[in-house]
Amino acid sequence: MIFETHAHYEDPRFAEDREALLTKLPQEGIDLVVNVGSSLESTKETLALTKKYPHVYGAAGVHPEETGALDEESFQWLTQVVEEEKIVAVGEIGLDYYWDEPAREIQKEWFERQILLARQVKKPMIIHSRDAAQDTWDILKKHRAEEIGGVIHCFSYSLEMAKKYIEMGFYIGVGGVVTFKNAKKLRQVVADIPLTSILLETDCPYMAPEPHRGKRNSSLYLPFVAEKIAEIKGISVDEVCAQTKENAMQMYQIKGCQV
Ligand code: NI
Repeated sequence: MIFETHAHYEDPRFAEDREALLTKLPQEGIDLVVNVGSSLESTKETLALTKKYPHVYGAAGVHPEETGALDEESFQWLTQVVEEEKIVAVGEIGLDYYWDEPAREIQKEWFERQILLARQVKKPMIIHSRDAAQDTWDILKKHRAEEIGGVIHCFSYSLEMAKKYIEMGFYIGVGGVVTFKNAKKLRQVVADIPLTSILLETDCPYMAPEPHRGKRNSSLYLPFVAEKIAEIKGISVDEVCAQTKENAMQMYQIKGCQV
């Protein structure tokens, strides 16, 4: 009874066992998966995965680091893909100033255009924001993101920022990082925000939780994340899984149980 809200199963690190892994997820308690595009190519592969597996949905979008590859023609293609029935969000989109590549102006331009796209198709956004707290907030505010909603994926900012986003109608994506020794700030955020605002995510193949930190991640490790959240909040693991699944169904506008 777990909803995996953010995975990258098109990644070459799943080349050997993608089929076997995705097929067995429902038996292992991972009912639904949203595979998230991060480039034009991975969006294309995401779409193919949604067509192949009933329990896999997708998000279409271009990650800030990949925005240098966008032009009018490819953006046009993206606008068609987001209309697909099993594409339930626009993402992952945002700003990443950690590497600062491509230039901030380019990242901002395509972030804004993809926000407008989400608005146009009325689908939520999956936001990637790293070392860019203020600009991300300003741009989302400018485009009245509260009317679209979505998730701040792999949340890494302050409690104050988390509260502002929740007020804006956003969910907070929590993954393997919450189990890391040095993640005190994130654990504080998890402790102080309501469970109704949290989504479970892996970002696999990245961000494997303890005790698998550094290995290839997959949705099979989500119970470690759920356990940590349950421990922080002093509630049962079942409650964490059930509520976060309901949150995800709500955000992605997926009706009823699909599997
Ligand atoms: Ni991701």
